[in-house]
Amino acid sequence: MSEYLLAIETSCDETSISILKDNEVISLVTNTQIDSFEEIGGVVPELASRMHTHNILYVYAQALKEAKVSIKDIDVICVTNGPGLIGALLIGVNFAKTLSLIHDIKLIEINHLHGHIYSSTIDNEITYPHLSLIVSGGHTELIYLEKELSYKKLGSTLDDAAGECFDKVARLLDLGYPGGPKIDNLAKNGSPTYDLPIPKNDDSFDFSFSGLKSASYNLNNTLNMKNEKLNKEDFACSFQSIVIQSLLNKFEMAYNQYKPNSISVVGGVSANSYLREQFLEKYPNIIFPDKKYTSDNAAMIAKVGWLKYKNNKFIDLKDLNANPNLKI
Ligand code: KG4
Ligand code: ZN
Repeated sequence: MSEYLLAIETSCDETSISILKDNEVISLVTNTQIDSFEEIGGVVPELASRMHTHNILYVYAQALKEAKVSIKDIDVICVTNGPGLIGALLIGVNFAKTLSLIHDIKLIEINHLHGHIYSSTIDNEITYPHLSLIVSGGHTELIYLEKELSYKKLGSTLDDAAGECFDKVARLLDLGYPGGPKIDNLAKNGSPTYDLPIPKNDDSFDFSFSGLKSASYNLNNTLNMKNEKLNKEDFACSFQSIVIQSLLNKFEMAYNQYKPNSISVVGGVSANSYLREQFLEKYPNIIFPDKKYTSDNAAMIAKVGWLKYKNNKFIDLKDLNANPNLKI
């Protein structure tokens, strides 16, 4: 008999629900709030929570409809319980707990970053040991998985995440939110003529992007004082190549030291066309998730959920003593 898993993701500005049938994605419905935040230039947590509350039932109904199943068919529910915006996470977690209690369905909590790592298994297979670079709006982390579900953090950003840096520099260029795709497009028509520093160019696995952000703002101020303007295309191209160079340098160090069997780059920034080109040139077998799975989505949460389900890592909400983990 087939098994069905329902996954819920509400950690930032996407309300997303996905259903798996025997580990295959049979529905994925995502409501993104990006349009609401484009003009403001970033996510407002309070507004994001309100929109999740408003949208979640609709997304849930659509996901069941697309999958042609009813909640009674679902064997297990998975929900992102962090990291993310507290108010936004609470909407998804409470929705999942309610469904679990009312319908007596097992519940599994999922770390959002583990979801990003396993997004590369939606259309591909990974073998172990596996090395994954997560580059998103909130995180930049190098993770080594010696085996399934075992995560060793090799390094992470000490300040801004790569995506956050794209977004902040895009604000400098008046491009709106999210800045990553806009810089990506502008850079296609530019040359790397501006001289910017490669951040944290050392032998640690950690990253740093706030210095690059400040250098970009300083450069702009200096030009303004001379009544000159940044050439947006050239600047986008210069900035982007430095970010990607920094990611490539750290990735290469980890690759040489850990000699993984398979490798991936995941998360919102992994949609970047120059990043893909550069990593593919060096690592032809590298796995990138399909672009629809690079930004936040519940299908990636479902994929980790399936593995945890098969390893019996679920919570019985009726046994309150056995439920110390579902924290946000
Ligand atoms: O993974 P994600 O959807 O959300 C988080 O978990 O943070 O990542 C969103 C980030 C944003 O900072 C956005 O600007 C960036 O991914 N991004 C890109 C591109 N597409 C999205 N950055 C560079 N190039 C892109 N094409
Ligand atoms: Zn994310």
